[in-house]
Amino acid sequence: VTTEFGWFEEEEEGYAEKYRGAVDSLKIENGVLRRYLTYFAALTRPDNIVLIRGDELEGIISSLVSEGKLIRLNGKTYPNSYLYRSDPSDVARSEKNTYICTPEREDAGPTNNWMNPADALARFRDLARGAYSGKTMYVVPYILGPEESPFAETGVEITDNPYVVANMMMITRSGKRALDRIGESTRFVLGVHVTGSLNPEERYIMHLPEDDMILSVNTAYGGNALLSKKCHALRIASVHAKRDGWMAEHMMAIEVVRPDGRAFGITGAFPSASGKTNLSMIMPPSDMEGWKAYLVSDDIAWMHSVNGSLYAINPEYGFFGVAPGTNERTNPNALDAIRHDTIFTNVALTDSGEPWWEGLGPRPPHLIDWQGRDCNGCEQAAHPNSRFTTPILNYRQLSAKYSDPRGLKVDAMLFGGRRSTLVPLVREARNWAQGVLFGAMLRAETTAAITGKVGVVRQDPMAMIAFCGYNMADYFSHWLRMGSMVKDRPRIYYVNWFRKDSKGEFIWPGFGENMRVIEWITGRVSGEITKGIETPIGILPEVDDIRAPGVSRERLEEILSVDRDGWLRELDEVEAFFSQFGDRFPVELRKEIERMREGLENW
Ligand code: PEP
Ligand code: MN
Ligand code: NA
Repeated sequence: VTTEFGWFEEEEEGYAEKYRGAVDSLKIENGVLRRYLTYFAALTRPDNIVLIRGDELEGIISSLVSEGKLIRLNGKTYPNSYLYRSDPSDVARSEKNTYICTPEREDAGPTNNWMNPADALARFRDLARGAYSGKTMYVVPYILGPEESPFAETGVEITDNPYVVANMMMITRSGKRALDRIGESTRFVLGVHVTGSLNPEERYIMHLPEDDMILSVNTAYGGNALLSKKCHALRIASVHAKRDGWMAEHMMAIEVVRPDGRAFGITGAFPSASGKTNLSMIMPPSDMEGWKAYLVSDDIAWMHSVNGSLYAINPEYGFFGVAPGTNERTNPNALDAIRHDTIFTNVALTDSGEPWWEGLGPRPPHLIDWQGRDCNGCEQAAHPNSRFTTPILNYRQLSAKYSDPRGLKVDAMLFGGRRSTLVPLVREARNWAQGVLFGAMLRAETTAAITGKVGVVRQDPMAMIAFCGYNMADYFSHWLRMGSMVKDRPRIYYVNWFRKDSKGEFIWPGFGENMRVIEWITGRVSGEITKGIETPIGILPEVDDIRAPGVSRERLEEILSVDRDGWLRELDEVEAFFSQFGDRFPVELRKEIERMREGLENW
C-alpha cells in the first residue's frame, strides 16, 4: 500500500478519534495498517472491530446458522457443510462495474473500465460512509502462496460481511500467520469491502494498482467481494508481475505422472466455466493404467523464472468452483472434496437436506430452488453460477508441489476455450511467439459465470480479459518478454474439447478422456513424438498419435484438420479486436499474425 494517503485526512477526523482506541486494542504492530484501519473505521462507522487471527471460522459459521443466513446441510452425508443463498441480483462477477483506476486512462487500456483514482476514492467515500453502522468490521489478513515461498504476497481485507470472512478463511491462508508475515512492511494489498445495498446500479469494484488498494461496494458475490481472488491474485498481481518480471495468470496447474514415473508440469488458461476446474481435477480413464494427475491449482497460477525454468505456485488455499455440471463422470475428485466442510452458494436443496444442481444426477421429485422457493417442475433449480467453497486440503489428489515454496516446474502451457466449430482438438505452437499469439487469439463462447449473454463468442486473450490489471497490449509485450527471460521455455498448446458435429453433438468425449491429449503433449515435450503436421495455425498431431478408443478415426480427422477459410475469417475478427490497441500492440505479435495469414492464404 501507499504510505501517502493524504486524501484520507480531515473530514472523518472526528470519527477517527473515536476509533483509534479500538484499533490500538487489536495490538497490530504495523503502523501503516493501523492508520488505514482507523481511517476506514471512521468512514464506515462500525459498532466494533474484529481482527481475524485464525480460529474464528467455527464461531462465524454458527452465528450465520443461528441468524438463518446459512442452512446446515445433512450432517450424515455432508458433514459441517452449509447452504448460503445470495441476493438474486448479486450472483456473478459484474464486469461492467469493475474498474482499473490509474492516473492515465491509457494505462488501464481499452479492454478495462477506467476511473481516475481520486474519483474512485471520492465515489467509494460517498457510498461507504456510515455503511458499517450497526455491524462488525472484520479485518482479515491473508497470505497468497505457500507460507515459506519468496513468491507469496500478503493482503488485508476489511469487510462487514461474515459470509465473506468465512469464504476468505477457506480460500486463503489467513489470520495471525499472515499478520506476522506482513510485520512492519507496507508491501501488502489492502481491500475494503462494503456489502451495502447490493444495488447493481451503485456497485463498484475498483482497483488502484499504484496504491495496492481494492475498493468494493454494494455486492457480496465471490469474485466481487472475496478480494484476494480475482481482484488481488489476478488484477493487482498482474501489475506486480509486469513490474517485477513474473506472471500472474488465470491458469490451472497440474502435475501429470506417467506410468514410467516421469512427471510433467502443465498449466492452462481457460475462460470461466470452460472446464478449467475439471481439467485441474482430471481423473485419467481406466484404461490409461498408471497415469496420475495431481492438482496444484484450479484457477490461478503465479509463475516465476528460477534458474532459467518457469515454476508455478497456487496463491490460494481453497476452491471457489462452479457446481452445475459437476458429477461422478465429469469430476469425481471434486465431488469427493465437497462432501464435507464446504459452503455451497445458490445451489438447490433436496428434502433430505443435501445440495443439488443441474448435472449432478437424476433430479429428485421435490426440491427447494436456489432462491428458497418450492420447485415443482421449475426449469432451473440451482443458479447456473452456483458455487462451492472448499478447503484445498480436502482434495485427495493434491500435488506435493502445492506446498513447495518454488512450486511446480512448468513444461507445457495450454490455452483453450469453448468453441463448437473451427478450432482443432489440439495444436502446438512452433515457438514462444506463436504461443503468445495462440493465447492472444483465445476466443470462447460465454457462460453463466459472468452477468450477460450466454453462448456468444467473445475475445478473451489468455482468459485474462476480465482480469488483466493494465493495458492488455502491454500484457502481450510482457508475455513476449517472459519468453526471453526463461531459457527452458514451456511449450505452448491450444486445445478445444468442445467441437460439435452437424447434429449438435460433442465430437470429443472430454473430461477424463482429455488425458489422451495430455498424453500426446507429454510425448511432444519429452521428444518421443517427433512427427507432427506443420500447419500455419501450429503443429497438429498425426491422427495415429492420439490414442482415443472412443472416437472414430473419421471424427478424429474432422477435429484435427485446418479449415483454411474459417481461419482466415477468424484472423479478420481477431485483428479487428487487436486494432483497438493501436501502436501499443507489439510488433512481434503483428509479425506472427502476418505469418499465419500468409501461410493460410497459400495453404
Ligand atoms: C468468481 O466469479 O469469483 C470466480 C471464481 O470466477 P470464475 O469462476 O468465473 O473464474
Ligand atoms: Mn477463474
Ligand atoms: Na464468475
